Amino acid sequence: MMSKIEEQYKAATPKSAEMAARAERVMPGGDTRTTAHHRPYSLTIARGEGPFLHDIDGNRYIDLLGNYTSLVHGHAYPPIVEAITRAANGGTAWPARSEAQVALAELLCERVASVEQVRFCNSGTEAGMLACHVARRLTGRKLILMARYGYHGSYDDLELGLAGHDGERTMLADFGEATSFEALLTERGQEIAAVFLEPVLGSAGIVAPPAGFLERVGEAAHRAGALFILDEVITLRLACGGAQAIFGAKPDLTMMGKIIGGGLPVGALGGSAEIMAAFNPRERGAIFHSGTFNGNPATCAAGLVSVRELTQDRIDAMDARAKKIAEELKRAARQAELPFSVRQFGSLMNIFFLDEAPPATINRQDSRTIAAFHLAALNNGLFIAPRGMIALSTVLTDELMTEVAERAAKAMLDVARDSG
Ligand SMILES: Cc1ncc(COP(=O)(O)O)c(C=O)c1O
Repeated sequence: MMSKIEEQYKAATPKSAEMAARAERVMPGGDTRTTAHHRPYSLTIARGEGPFLHDIDGNRYIDLLGNYTSLVHGHAYPPIVEAITRAANGGTAWPARSEAQVALAELLCERVASVEQVRFCNSGTEAGMLACHVARRLTGRKLILMARYGYHGSYDDLELGLAGHDGERTMLADFGEATSFEALLTERGQEIAAVFLEPVLGSAGIVAPPAGFLERVGEAAHRAGALFILDEVITLRLACGGAQAIFGAKPDLTMMGKIIGGGLPVGALGGSAEIMAAFNPRERGAIFHSGTFNGNPATCAAGLVSVRELTQDRIDAMDARAKKIAEELKRAARQAELPFSVRQFGSLMNIFFLDEAPPATINRQDSRTIAAFHLAALNNGLFIAPRGMIALSTVLTDELMTEVAERAAKAMLDVARDSG
Protein backbone atom coordinates (compact mmCIF):
# COMPACT_ATOMS: atom_id res chain seq x y z
CA MET A 1 0.00 0.00 0.00
CA MET A 2 1.24 3.45 -0.83
CA SER A 3 2.07 5.54 2.21
CA LYS A 4 0.57 9.00 2.72
CA ILE A 5 4.06 10.42 2.32
CA GLU A 6 4.45 8.79 -1.09
CA GLU A 7 0.94 9.86 -2.13
CA GLN A 8 1.76 13.43 -1.20
CA TYR A 9 5.07 13.28 -3.09
CA LYS A 10 3.37 11.99 -6.24
CA ALA A 11 0.57 14.55 -6.00
CA ALA A 12 3.08 17.40 -5.77
CA THR A 13 5.38 16.24 -8.56
CA PRO A 14 3.37 15.06 -11.62
CA LYS A 15 5.74 16.69 -14.11
CA SER A 16 8.74 15.06 -12.44
CA ALA A 17 6.89 11.73 -12.72
CA GLU A 18 6.36 12.29 -16.43
CA MET A 19 9.98 13.24 -16.92
CA ALA A 20 11.10 10.17 -14.93
CA ALA A 21 9.06 7.93 -17.25
CA ARG A 22 10.65 9.62 -20.27
CA ALA A 23 14.10 9.27 -18.67
CA GLU A 24 13.59 5.56 -17.96
CA ARG A 25 13.27 4.85 -21.64
CA VAL A 26 16.73 6.23 -22.37
CA MET A 27 18.65 5.85 -19.08
CA PRO A 28 18.67 2.72 -16.92
CA GLY A 29 16.41 3.38 -13.94
CA GLY A 30 15.88 6.89 -15.33
CA ASP A 31 19.00 8.22 -13.66
CA THR A 32 22.65 8.65 -14.43
CA ARG A 33 23.97 8.85 -10.89
CA THR A 34 23.38 5.91 -8.54
CA THR A 35 23.69 7.92 -5.31
CA ALA A 36 20.95 10.33 -6.35
CA HIS A 37 18.48 7.60 -7.37
CA HIS A 38 15.52 6.93 -5.09
CA ARG A 39 11.96 5.62 -5.12
CA PRO A 40 9.36 6.23 -6.42
CA TYR A 41 11.32 8.50 -8.79
CA SER A 42 13.78 11.33 -8.34
CA LEU A 43 12.83 14.93 -9.05
CA THR A 44 13.59 16.85 -12.18
CA ILE A 45 15.10 20.17 -11.18
CA ALA A 46 14.47 23.30 -13.22
CA ARG A 47 16.94 25.63 -11.53
CA GLY A 48 19.00 26.42 -8.48
CA GLU A 49 19.08 29.84 -6.91
CA GLY A 50 21.22 30.64 -3.85
CA PRO A 51 20.08 28.25 -1.09
CA PHE A 52 17.10 26.97 -3.12
CA LEU A 53 16.30 24.34 -5.72
CA HIS A 54 13.15 24.60 -7.84
CA ASP A 55 11.65 21.54 -9.54
CA ILE A 56 9.72 21.50 -12.81
CA ASP A 57 6.42 21.36 -10.92
CA GLY A 58 7.18 24.72 -9.32
CA ASN A 59 8.06 23.37 -5.85
CA ARG A 60 10.83 25.13 -3.95
CA TYR A 61 13.29 23.27 -1.73
CA ILE A 62 15.85 24.59 0.73
CA ASP A 63 18.98 22.87 -0.49
CA LEU A 64 20.76 21.10 2.36
CA LEU A 65 23.00 19.05 0.11
CA GLY A 66 24.70 21.44 -2.33
CA ASN A 67 25.19 18.78 -5.00
CA TYR A 68 26.71 16.40 -2.46
CA THR A 69 28.89 19.05 -0.77
CA SER A 70 30.30 20.68 -3.90
CA LEU A 71 28.22 23.89 -3.97
CA VAL A 72 29.63 25.40 -0.81
CA HIS A 73 28.33 28.86 -1.81
CA GLY A 74 24.92 27.66 -2.99
CA HIS A 75 23.54 27.84 -6.51
CA ALA A 76 24.36 30.51 -9.06
CA TYR A 77 26.54 32.36 -6.53
CA PRO A 78 26.88 35.76 -8.27
CA PRO A 79 30.71 36.04 -8.15
CA ILE A 80 30.97 32.51 -9.58
CA VAL A 81 28.37 33.21 -12.28
CA GLU A 82 30.34 36.30 -13.20
CA ALA A 83 33.62 34.33 -13.36
CA ILE A 84 32.06 31.57 -15.50
CA THR A 85 30.38 34.09 -17.80
CA ARG A 86 33.62 35.94 -18.31
CA ALA A 87 35.40 32.64 -18.98
CA ALA A 88 32.67 31.43 -21.36
CA ASN A 89 32.85 34.68 -23.30
CA GLY A 90 36.51 33.96 -23.88
CA GLY A 91 35.96 30.33 -24.94
CA THR A 92 35.54 27.40 -22.56
CA ALA A 93 38.41 25.12 -23.49
CA TRP A 94 41.69 25.20 -25.29
CA PRO A 95 44.71 22.91 -25.36
CA ALA A 96 46.99 25.24 -23.41
CA ARG A 97 46.99 26.68 -19.90
CA SER A 98 45.00 29.69 -18.76
CA GLU A 99 45.85 32.22 -16.08
CA ALA A 100 42.95 30.91 -13.97
CA GLN A 101 44.45 27.41 -14.08
CA VAL A 102 47.78 28.64 -12.69
CA ALA A 103 46.05 30.81 -10.09
CA LEU A 104 43.88 27.91 -8.86
CA ALA A 105 46.91 25.63 -8.67
CA GLU A 106 48.75 28.34 -6.68
CA LEU A 107 45.83 28.80 -4.32
CA LEU A 108 45.55 25.06 -3.59
CA CYS A 109 49.31 24.79 -3.01
CA GLU A 110 49.17 27.78 -0.70
CA ARG A 111 46.25 26.40 1.33
CA VAL A 112 46.98 22.70 1.64
CA ALA A 113 50.22 22.13 3.56
CA SER A 114 51.22 18.82 1.93
CA VAL A 115 50.55 20.04 -1.59
CA GLU A 116 53.39 21.66 -3.55
CA GLN A 117 52.17 20.79 -7.03
CA VAL A 118 48.88 19.67 -8.58
CA ARG A 119 47.49 18.02 -11.70
CA PHE A 120 43.91 18.78 -12.67
CA CYS A 121 41.36 16.27 -13.95
CA ASN A 122 37.58 16.30 -14.21
CA SER A 123 36.26 14.38 -11.21
CA GLY A 124 37.20 13.01 -7.83
CA THR A 125 36.97 9.56 -9.41
CA GLU A 126 39.71 10.47 -11.87
CA ALA A 127 41.83 11.90 -9.06
CA GLY A 128 41.59 8.49 -7.38
CA MET A 129 42.53 6.66 -10.57
CA LEU A 130 45.53 8.93 -10.99
CA ALA A 131 46.57 8.43 -7.37
CA CYS A 132 46.49 4.63 -7.86
CA HIS A 133 48.52 5.03 -11.02
CA VAL A 134 51.22 7.10 -9.31
CA ALA A 135 51.42 4.80 -6.30
CA ARG A 136 51.72 1.69 -8.45
CA ARG A 137 54.30 3.32 -10.68
CA LEU A 138 56.46 4.56 -7.79
CA THR A 139 56.33 1.39 -5.72
CA GLY A 140 56.09 -1.29 -8.41
CA ARG A 141 53.33 -2.89 -6.28
CA LYS A 142 49.70 -3.40 -7.14
CA LEU A 143 47.58 -3.65 -3.98
CA ILE A 144 45.53 -0.78 -2.60
CA LEU A 145 44.53 -0.73 1.07
CA MET A 146 41.50 1.34 2.01
CA ALA A 147 38.74 1.57 4.61
CA ARG A 148 35.72 -0.67 4.58
CA TYR A 149 32.83 1.57 3.46
CA GLY A 150 35.30 4.23 2.41
CA TYR A 151 34.46 5.91 -0.88
CA HIS A 152 36.91 7.34 -3.37
CA GLY A 153 34.76 7.44 -6.52
CA SER A 154 33.65 5.00 -9.20
CA TYR A 155 36.99 3.45 -10.26
CA ASP A 156 36.56 -0.28 -9.73
CA ASP A 157 39.73 -0.80 -7.65
CA LEU A 158 38.51 1.89 -5.26
CA GLU A 159 34.80 1.12 -5.36
CA LEU A 160 35.21 -2.07 -3.36
CA GLY A 161 35.06 -0.08 -0.15
CA LEU A 162 31.31 0.19 -0.64
CA ALA A 163 31.00 -3.52 -1.38
CA GLY A 164 32.67 -4.10 1.99
CA HIS A 165 34.88 -6.98 0.84
CA ASP A 166 38.41 -7.38 -0.54
CA GLY A 167 39.03 -7.63 -4.29
CA GLU A 168 41.81 -8.83 -6.54
CA ARG A 169 43.78 -5.60 -6.17
CA THR A 170 42.10 -4.05 -3.12
CA MET A 171 42.23 -4.84 0.59
CA LEU A 172 40.00 -3.37 3.26
CA ALA A 173 40.58 -2.55 6.92
CA ASP A 174 38.32 -0.95 9.51
CA PHE A 175 38.18 2.83 9.66
CA GLY A 176 39.11 4.11 13.09
CA GLU A 177 41.00 0.95 14.03
CA ALA A 178 44.66 1.68 13.39
CA THR A 179 45.64 -1.86 14.38
CA SER A 180 43.63 -3.38 11.53
CA PHE A 181 45.58 -1.24 9.02
CA GLU A 182 48.88 -1.85 10.83
CA ALA A 183 48.38 -5.63 10.81
CA LEU A 184 47.77 -5.75 7.04
CA LEU A 185 50.69 -3.41 6.39
CA THR A 186 52.94 -5.68 8.45
CA GLU A 187 51.72 -8.91 6.82
CA ARG A 188 51.34 -7.78 3.21
CA GLY A 189 53.26 -4.49 3.18
CA GLN A 190 55.57 -5.66 0.38
CA GLU A 191 52.58 -5.83 -1.97
CA ILE A 192 50.79 -2.63 -0.95
CA ALA A 193 51.27 0.40 -3.21
CA ALA A 194 49.15 2.83 -1.22
CA VAL A 195 46.79 3.35 1.65
CA PHE A 196 43.78 5.52 0.80
CA LEU A 197 41.72 7.21 3.50
CA GLU A 198 39.01 9.81 3.71
CA PRO A 199 39.99 11.84 6.80
CA VAL A 200 36.29 11.89 7.74
CA LEU A 201 34.21 9.16 6.09
CA GLY A 202 31.51 10.73 3.92
CA SER A 203 29.31 8.09 2.25
CA ALA A 204 29.60 5.83 5.29
CA GLY A 205 27.81 8.41 7.42
CA ILE A 206 30.19 11.27 8.41
CA VAL A 207 32.54 9.36 10.67
CA ALA A 208 35.42 11.35 12.20
CA PRO A 209 38.70 9.57 12.93
CA PRO A 210 39.67 8.84 16.54
CA ALA A 211 42.68 10.79 17.84
CA GLY A 212 45.95 9.61 16.33
CA PHE A 213 44.32 7.27 13.77
CA LEU A 214 45.41 9.08 10.60
CA GLU A 215 48.91 9.58 11.98
CA ARG A 216 49.32 5.91 12.88
CA VAL A 217 48.04 4.67 9.54
CA GLY A 218 50.29 7.15 7.72
CA GLU A 219 53.33 5.97 9.69
CA ALA A 220 52.50 2.30 9.10
CA ALA A 221 52.11 2.97 5.36
CA HIS A 222 55.52 4.63 5.26
CA ARG A 223 57.18 1.84 7.25
CA ALA A 224 55.86 -0.56 4.61
CA GLY A 225 57.14 1.67 1.79
CA ALA A 226 53.59 2.46 0.63
CA LEU A 227 52.17 5.88 -0.20
CA PHE A 228 49.69 7.50 2.20
CA ILE A 229 46.89 9.13 0.24
CA LEU A 230 44.20 11.32 1.74
CA ASP A 231 40.95 11.83 -0.12
CA GLU A 232 39.90 15.41 0.60
CA VAL A 233 37.27 15.51 -2.15
CA ILE A 234 34.60 16.24 0.46
CA THR A 235 36.67 17.34 3.44
CA LEU A 236 38.50 20.27 1.89
CA ARG A 237 35.50 22.37 2.98
CA LEU A 238 36.18 21.64 6.68
CA ALA A 239 39.15 24.01 7.03
CA CYS A 240 41.13 26.28 4.69
CA GLY A 241 43.92 23.70 4.76
CA GLY A 242 41.51 20.76 4.49
CA ALA A 243 40.94 18.08 7.11
CA GLN A 244 44.68 17.35 7.12
CA ALA A 245 45.14 20.73 8.82
CA ILE A 246 42.59 19.79 11.49
CA PHE A 247 44.06 16.35 12.23
CA GLY A 248 47.72 17.15 11.57
CA ALA A 249 47.95 14.44 8.90
CA LYS A 250 50.79 14.44 6.39
CA PRO A 251 49.75 12.59 3.23
CA ASP A 252 52.02 11.94 0.26
CA LEU A 253 49.16 12.67 -2.12
CA THR A 254 45.87 14.49 -1.68
CA MET A 255 42.78 13.93 -3.82
CA MET A 256 40.64 17.03 -4.30
CA GLY A 257 37.39 17.80 -6.11
CA LYS A 258 33.91 19.23 -5.56
CA ILE A 259 34.39 22.76 -4.09
CA ILE A 260 37.56 23.44 -6.09
CA GLY A 261 35.45 23.57 -9.29
CA GLY A 262 32.94 26.14 -8.04
CA GLY A 263 30.08 23.90 -9.19
CA LEU A 264 31.64 22.71 -12.47
CA PRO A 265 33.14 19.24 -13.00
CA VAL A 266 36.58 18.97 -11.44
CA GLY A 267 39.18 16.84 -9.75
CA ALA A 268 42.82 17.34 -8.78
CA LEU A 269 45.67 15.39 -7.34
CA GLY A 270 48.33 17.17 -5.30
CA GLY A 271 51.48 16.29 -3.42
CA SER A 272 55.14 17.07 -2.95
CA ALA A 273 57.10 18.24 -5.99
CA GLU A 274 59.18 15.08 -5.67
CA ILE A 275 56.21 12.73 -6.01
CA MET A 276 54.34 14.86 -8.52
CA ALA A 277 57.46 14.74 -10.73
CA ALA A 278 56.09 11.34 -11.81
CA PHE A 279 53.84 13.35 -14.16
CA ASN A 280 56.52 15.66 -15.53
CA PRO A 281 56.35 15.22 -19.31
CA ARG A 282 59.96 16.41 -19.54
CA GLU A 283 61.10 13.24 -17.79
CA ARG A 284 61.53 9.97 -19.62
CA GLY A 285 59.01 7.36 -18.53
CA ALA A 286 56.69 9.93 -16.97
CA ILE A 287 53.07 8.92 -16.42
CA PHE A 288 50.99 9.76 -19.45
CA HIS A 289 48.15 11.79 -18.05
CA SER A 290 45.92 13.74 -20.34
CA GLY A 291 42.31 14.89 -20.53
CA THR A 292 40.58 17.12 -23.05
CA PHE A 293 39.04 19.26 -20.32
CA ASN A 294 41.77 19.08 -17.65
CA GLY A 295 42.13 22.46 -15.98
CA ASN A 296 39.72 24.12 -18.42
CA PRO A 297 39.36 27.89 -18.00
CA ALA A 298 35.68 27.87 -16.96
CA THR A 299 36.15 25.34 -14.16
CA CYS A 300 39.33 27.01 -12.94
CA ALA A 301 37.78 30.50 -12.95
CA ALA A 302 34.78 29.19 -10.97
CA GLY A 303 36.96 27.15 -8.63
CA LEU A 304 39.23 30.08 -7.90
CA VAL A 305 36.29 32.15 -6.62
CA SER A 306 34.79 29.20 -4.73
CA VAL A 307 37.99 28.40 -2.84
CA ARG A 308 39.07 32.02 -2.32
CA GLU A 309 35.68 32.93 -0.84
CA LEU A 310 35.65 29.99 1.53
CA THR A 311 37.27 31.87 4.39
CA GLN A 312 37.81 30.52 7.90
CA ASP A 313 35.11 32.91 9.18
CA ARG A 314 32.59 31.45 6.78
CA ILE A 315 33.64 27.91 7.66
CA ASP A 316 33.18 28.71 11.35
CA ALA A 317 29.73 30.21 10.71
CA MET A 318 28.62 27.08 8.81
CA ASP A 319 29.95 24.85 11.59
CA ALA A 320 28.02 26.78 14.24
CA ARG A 321 24.80 26.52 12.21
CA ALA A 322 25.39 22.80 11.68
CA LYS A 323 25.76 22.21 15.43
CA LYS A 324 22.57 24.12 16.12
CA ILE A 325 20.50 22.33 13.47
CA ALA A 326 21.76 18.95 14.67
CA GLU A 327 20.39 19.78 18.13
CA GLU A 328 17.10 20.98 16.69
CA LEU A 329 16.69 17.81 14.65
CA LYS A 330 17.22 15.76 17.81
CA ARG A 331 14.57 17.77 19.61
CA ALA A 332 12.10 17.38 16.71
CA ALA A 333 12.66 13.61 16.66
CA ARG A 334 12.00 13.41 20.41
CA GLN A 335 8.73 15.29 19.92
CA ALA A 336 7.73 12.94 17.11
CA GLU A 337 8.80 10.00 19.31
CA LEU A 338 11.15 8.65 16.67
CA PRO A 339 14.47 7.01 17.51
CA PHE A 340 17.14 9.37 16.22
CA SER A 341 20.83 10.14 16.16
CA VAL A 342 23.04 12.42 14.16
CA ARG A 343 26.75 12.47 13.45
CA GLN A 344 27.98 15.96 12.64
CA PHE A 345 31.43 17.19 11.79
CA GLY A 346 31.84 20.82 10.70
CA SER A 347 29.30 21.66 8.02
CA LEU A 348 28.58 17.97 7.32
CA MET A 349 26.20 15.62 9.06
CA ASN A 350 24.32 12.38 8.60
CA ILE A 351 21.10 11.54 10.37
CA PHE A 352 19.93 8.10 11.45
CA PHE A 353 16.56 6.92 12.74
CA LEU A 354 18.27 4.76 15.33
CA ASP A 355 18.88 5.42 19.02
CA GLU A 356 22.60 5.40 18.38
CA ALA A 357 24.51 6.25 15.23
CA PRO A 358 25.84 2.98 13.79
CA PRO A 359 29.52 2.44 13.05
CA ALA A 360 30.72 3.25 9.52
CA THR A 361 28.40 1.44 7.16
CA ILE A 362 26.28 1.79 4.08
CA ASN A 363 23.97 -1.07 5.09
CA ARG A 364 21.34 0.79 7.04
CA GLN A 365 19.11 -0.82 9.63
CA ASP A 366 16.87 2.22 9.39
CA SER A 367 16.62 2.04 5.59
CA ARG A 368 12.80 2.20 5.53
CA THR A 369 12.58 5.12 7.94
CA ILE A 370 15.34 7.12 6.29
CA ALA A 371 13.69 6.57 2.89
CA ALA A 372 10.35 7.74 4.34
CA PHE A 373 11.97 10.78 5.96
CA HIS A 374 13.79 11.67 2.76
CA LEU A 375 10.48 11.82 0.85
CA ALA A 376 8.74 13.57 3.75
CA ALA A 377 11.55 16.15 3.81
CA LEU A 378 11.06 16.77 0.08
CA ASN A 379 7.31 17.11 0.67
CA ASN A 380 8.14 19.74 3.27
CA GLY A 381 10.51 21.64 1.01
CA LEU A 382 13.86 20.29 2.22
CA PHE A 383 16.37 18.72 -0.14
CA ILE A 384 18.73 16.24 1.56
CA ALA A 385 20.51 13.10 0.35
CA PRO A 386 18.40 9.92 0.29
CA ARG A 387 20.83 8.46 2.83
CA GLY A 388 20.30 11.37 5.22
CA MET A 389 23.46 13.32 4.52
CA ILE A 390 23.34 17.07 4.94
CA ALA A 391 25.99 19.59 3.85
CA LEU A 392 25.47 23.25 4.65
CA SER A 393 26.49 26.12 2.41
CA THR A 394 27.62 29.65 3.16
CA VAL A 395 24.35 31.12 1.84
CA LEU A 396 22.07 29.40 4.36
CA THR A 397 21.17 32.20 6.76
CA ASP A 398 20.07 31.85 10.41
CA GLU A 399 16.55 32.74 9.32
CA LEU A 400 16.50 29.94 6.76
CA MET A 401 17.90 27.51 9.30
CA THR A 402 14.95 28.29 11.58
CA GLU A 403 12.69 27.41 8.65
CA VAL A 404 14.70 24.21 8.12
CA ALA A 405 14.10 23.19 11.74
CA GLU A 406 10.35 23.81 11.45
CA ARG A 407 10.05 21.93 8.17
CA ALA A 408 12.13 19.00 9.43
CA ALA A 409 9.92 18.77 12.53
CA LYS A 410 6.83 18.53 10.29
CA ALA A 411 8.51 15.86 8.13
CA MET A 412 9.28 13.83 11.25
CA LEU A 413 5.65 14.04 12.34
CA ASP A 414 4.65 12.76 8.88
CA VAL A 415 7.02 9.81 9.31
CA ALA A 416 5.66 9.07 12.79
CA ARG A 417 2.08 9.24 11.46
CA ASP A 418 2.82 6.87 8.55
CA SER A 419 4.66 4.36 10.68
CA GLY A 420 2.15 4.49 13.54
C1 LIG B 1 35.35 11.18 -0.64
C2 LIG B 1 35.05 11.14 -2.11
N1 LIG B 1 36.02 10.82 -2.97
C3 LIG B 1 35.80 10.79 -4.29
C4 LIG B 1 34.58 11.06 -4.82
C5 LIG B 1 34.36 10.99 -6.29
O1 LIG B 1 34.23 12.27 -6.83
P1 LIG B 1 33.42 12.48 -8.18
O2 LIG B 1 31.98 12.23 -7.88
O3 LIG B 1 33.72 13.90 -8.56
O4 LIG B 1 33.96 11.50 -9.17
C6 LIG B 1 33.53 11.41 -3.96
C7 LIG B 1 32.19 11.71 -4.50
O5 LIG B 1 31.22 11.84 -3.81
C8 LIG B 1 33.76 11.43 -2.57
O6 LIG B 1 32.77 11.69 -1.72
